[in-house]
Amino acid sequence: MSAKIISLAAVLVASVAALPQATASIAAVASASTSIATGPSTSVPLSTVLSSAQVSLQTGAASHGSKIPYWSRCPLPVTSTTTSSKRYAPTITWPFLENGNFIDWKTYKSNGANLGGWLEKEKTHDPIWWDQHAPDANDEWTFCQMLGPKCGPVLEARYTSFLNTSTIDQLASVGVNTLRIPTTYAAWVKVPGSQLYTGTQQLHLRTITHYAITKYSMHIIIGLHSLPGGVNSLDIGEGLGHDAWFYNSTNLEYSFLAIDAVLFFIATSGHTSSFTLAPINEASDNLAGFGSAAGLSTNATNWILTYIQGVFKRIALVDKRIPLMLQDCFQGASYWAPFYAAGTNIVFDSHVYYFAAAGTYSEYVLPAVCGQAAYIQESETKFPTFIGEWSLQAMFNNTLADRKSIFDTERYAWEKYNSGGAFWTAISYSTAAVDGEGTQRDYWSYIDLINAGVITKATNASYCS
Ligand SMILES: *[C@@H]1O[C@H](CO)[C@@H](O)[C@H](O)[C@H]1NC(C)=O
Ligand SMILES: *[C@@H]1O[C@H](CO)[C@@H](O)[C@H](O)[C@H]1NC(C)=O
Ligand SMILES: *[C@@H]1O[C@H](CO)[C@@H](O)[C@H](O)[C@H]1NC(C)=O
Ligand SMILES: *[C@@H]1O[C@H](CO)[C@@H](O)[C@H](O)[C@H]1NC(C)=O
Ligand SMILES: *[C@@H]1O[C@H](CO)[C@@H](O)[C@H](O)[C@H]1NC(C)=O
Repeated sequence: MSAKIISLAAVLVASVAALPQATASIAAVASASTSIATGPSTSVPLSTVLSSAQVSLQTGAASHGSKIPYWSRCPLPVTSTTTSSKRYAPTITWPFLENGNFIDWKTYKSNGANLGGWLEKEKTHDPIWWDQHAPDANDEWTFCQMLGPKCGPVLEARYTSFLNTSTIDQLASVGVNTLRIPTTYAAWVKVPGSQLYTGTQQLHLRTITHYAITKYSMHIIIGLHSLPGGVNSLDIGEGLGHDAWFYNSTNLEYSFLAIDAVLFFIATSGHTSSFTLAPINEASDNLAGFGSAAGLSTNATNWILTYIQGVFKRIALVDKRIPLMLQDCFQGASYWAPFYAAGTNIVFDSHVYYFAAAGTYSEYVLPAVCGQAAYIQESETKFPTFIGEWSLQAMFNNTLADRKSIFDTERYAWEKYNSGGAFWTAISYSTAAVDGEGTQRDYWSYIDLINAGVITKATNASYCS
């Protein structure tokens, strides 16, 4: 074992022992158990990073499984116009896990929502607030560059005003049992030169997750959506045009430090069993192919496999029962499955967005959904699949009246064929136009959809049964 890994384990054991009991106030729990990592100030050679992480550079990516083009193709043709007016009301019992029961994604069913655009800001989902501060910035990196020292206070205030425990109460009222929460690496590790803000994100995360877990037995997926250097050239990967995470050993080292901090957060929560760790999101080394299999090269796959091997080592030091959720980077779960032995505690996360599926009229969505859900799971039989992002917008002809059926059909299908999913996103203030009625907010804001009566506890307008 390397010194670094041993020290992480020691810190974890010591801090868990010192953790206040569940009766302690949230603030006490929070202050006792957040930590921001710091790392090397100069670049670290790859050999050093690999040996300290006890991993080897992976080179076998060419033996990947088949790429499943679920984003553009469905077993039922997406151009189908065969719609029936019959709607079903299937009985679904969503599980709520008690503290100490670790999740088994093979049997778990997630009725989930993302807390997107909260601790990782996106201009799209909070444009009015954004434009009050830095209208010329298009990503959080530039937002903070432009605001300088004001960035911290502005973001801190927004973390509090964007959502709160009442949001969790509302989600719970319609049966939500899972929260997927994106964060930037800067919430966990201070990377020299990074413009991303490092502040009290962990305290906000602690307050909300502690409430969701203790009051509602919700399961929490912590997402590390950006990684140092940038994982996909998008705002959510670090900054627009940034993809220097790949093949950069220093950035890999910082990624491991971020993972350590997330694991520390989980281990000091008093509810280790309530968490799943998602170490990467929508990675792509070819922006032109983003959202399709062309977005990720074999070489980049090797780099991801190397990172994931290191993440598994670190999880094992804390508790192997914490699952690793691997976002499939638009390759499909079956692409990744051959790299992992049966029994590995892994769940694959695919994102299904009909607004991005070529030629999709909202009238075509219903007949496509259930076949597509079945296709995603049938093409991957070894491991569970999860639909970590979806929304209600179709490419063309969106109508407000169609939303309930589309919501109920997707929630039902992800539950029936997959391990459930997580809607993107709990809160959206997006003002962007859609083809058809309304604006993006009408199709992407879970809380608005509850308020509009579209999302109800009962699933009673499903197209398939
Ligand atoms: C949470 O936010 C909502 C809407 O932003 C607000 O109406 C409510 O008062 C807030 N609740 C708490 C407990 O702060
Ligand atoms: C990796 O990225 C860092 C930070 O962007 C940079 O300073 C360094 O030169 C890059 N290369 C290597 C080999 O670490
Ligand atoms: C392929 O990956 C290796 C290290 O994993 C890296 O050194 C090399 O530059 C990459 N090649 C290309 C063409 O990106
Ligand atoms: C889209 O909406 C228009 C106008 O409401 C309608 O005429 C047309 O048939 C719809 N297109 C499809 C493919 O359903
Ligand atoms: C579905 O259930 C909700 C209450 O949960 C009810 O308001 C709505 O009318 C029902 N819709 C249908 C189509 O039965």
